[in-house]
Amino acid sequence: MPAFPLLYYHNQGINVPMPDSIPPAAERIQQLAAWIDDHRHLWEPRAFIAERLPWEKEWPLLAEWLRGLSDDEIDRLDAGLGGMGGSETRFPTTRDAGPPPRAASGPDAFAMLAAASRSVSALPRLRAVTPSALAGQAPPPRLLRHQVPARKWSQIQAFVSVSAPLWRSGTTRIVEWCSGKGHLGRLAGWASDLPVLHLDRQKALLAAAERLDRAAGVTGTIREADALTAGAWEEFGPGIGALGLHACGALNDALLEEGARRGAAWLIAATCCYHKSQLQDGFYLPRSNTGRRCDLRLDKHQVRLAIYDEVVARPRMRRARRREMAYRAGFDLLHRQATGTDSYASAGPLPPQLFRLPFGEFCAAVQERTQLELPAAFDASQALVAGEEWARRTRALGLIRGVFRRPLEVWLLLDRVCRQEEAGRKVVFGTFCHPCVTPRNLALISTPT
Ligand SMILES: C[S@@+](CC[C@H](N)C(=O)[O-])C[C@H]1O[C@@H](n2cnc3c(N)ncnc32)[C@H](O)[C@@H]1O
Repeated sequence: MPAFPLLYYHNQGINVPMPDSIPPAAERIQQLAAWIDDHRHLWEPRAFIAERLPWEKEWPLLAEWLRGLSDDEIDRLDAGLGGMGGSETRFPTTRDAGPPPRAASGPDAFAMLAAASRSVSALPRLRAVTPSALAGQAPPPRLLRHQVPARKWSQIQAFVSVSAPLWRSGTTRIVEWCSGKGHLGRLAGWASDLPVLHLDRQKALLAAAERLDRAAGVTGTIREADALTAGAWEEFGPGIGALGLHACGALNDALLEEGARRGAAWLIAATCCYHKSQLQDGFYLPRSNTGRRCDLRLDKHQVRLAIYDEVVARPRMRRARRREMAYRAGFDLLHRQATGTDSYASAGPLPPQLFRLPFGEFCAAVQERTQLELPAAFDASQALVAGEEWARRTRALGLIRGVFRRPLEVWLLLDRVCRQEEAGRKVVFGTFCHPCVTPRNLALISTPT
C-alpha cells in the first residue's frame, strides 16, 4: 500500500484525545450500559409530561437554573452536547462520571454532567485520506458535486476519505448501500478507480445516479433492490467493499450482518435512526450477545433519544420545530384544563400544514381529528403564550436528557462493533467528521481478521 498522506478532517478537537490503551469494545459497552442505566432517573422522564420531574427534588439548584434559561441559552447549551468538545485526556470510565453533588450550583452541576457525558462517549477520529490525494492530487471535478448540498458534500468527502486506506486491499468493486442518487459512491469510484454499484429501492434515484455517473465518467452500475431481502445481499462477497452512509437502522444492520456473513473485504457504516432497527416487544433488540448481556432496556422512544439533536438544523426548521412544540403544549394544557387531569394526552402524528394555522384553528382541527376534550371557550392567544412557556421549560429541562444522547449513541455503535467482532471480524470505530457537518458522525469499519 502506498504511503498515503494522512488527514484528519476538521481538526478542531471534536472529541477527546484518546489515551494509549483503549479498552476492548466488549468491556466498554458494559461499562457504558451500567452508566446509562445508573442515570435512568435523569434521562427517562420526559419534560413535557409533568409539571415537575422526579430529579428536580434531588437537584433543586440545577432545576431552578434550567427553568430560568432563555431560548438562546438553551440552544447554546444544547449545541455543546453531543461530541462537540472536551479536553479530558483520561479514558472514561464510568467511575469518574458520577452525578454532581446536590449542593453544586446549576451551571456547575450541568457542566459536570456534560463533562461526564463527553468522557464516557469519547471516541477517536478514524484515519482518513483525502480523495484528491489518491487521485493524483486533482481536486474532485465540479461535476461530482452536481446537485449535492454543501454540507452533504463535506460528509461524503469525509466518509470516502475513511474508506480510502482500504481500497487497495483486494477490492474489486464498491457497493454503495441505499445509495439514493449515488453521490457518495460516485466520489468513491472516481477517487479509487474502482467500479461502483449503487443499490437502492427507488428507481428514479437510481436513474439519476446512472446519468450522473455517465456525466462524471465514473464506471457505475445500478441495482434496484430492497436492502432487507436476500436478493440485495447477493451483492456482497470477497472483493466487495461496501459503504453505508445514513441508511436507517435496519438497512445498515443488514449491510453489516450480511456483508460479514458473505466475507466482504470491508464494510463501512454510519448508521442513523437506530430506532428503526429490529425491536422485540417494543424494545430495542441488541445486535450482539454482549449487548444483550448488558440488559439495558430501551423502548423505541428511548432509542430515539440518541439522534434527537438539532445541531445542524437550519434556522427555518428550528423555528418550525419550536412552533410545533408550542402548539402541541398549548393544546395539551387546554386539554388538561378541560379534563381536570394532570397527564399528557398525545395528539399523535399531525400533518405539518396544521401547524401553519392560527392557534385557535389548530386547536379546532386537532380536536376534530382526535376527539380530545377542550374547554368550551378559551382565549387562543393566552393559551398559545402558555404553550410557548411550557415548550421553553420542556426544552430547558430536556437538556438533562440531552446529556445522555451521545453516550446512548455510542452504546448503540458499540453494540454493532461487538456484533461484528462476534462474527469474527476486525473492527475499528470512531468519528469520520466534525459533528457540525453531521451529528451522525460515528462510523465503524469492519474487515475480515
Ligand atoms: C437517508 S437516504 C441516504 C442516502 C445516501 N446514502 C446518502 O447518504 O445520501 C436513505 C436511502 O435509503 C433508501 N432506502 C430506504 N429503504 C430502502 C430499502 N428497503 N432498500 C433499499 N433502499 C432503501 C432510500 O430510497 C434512500 O435513497
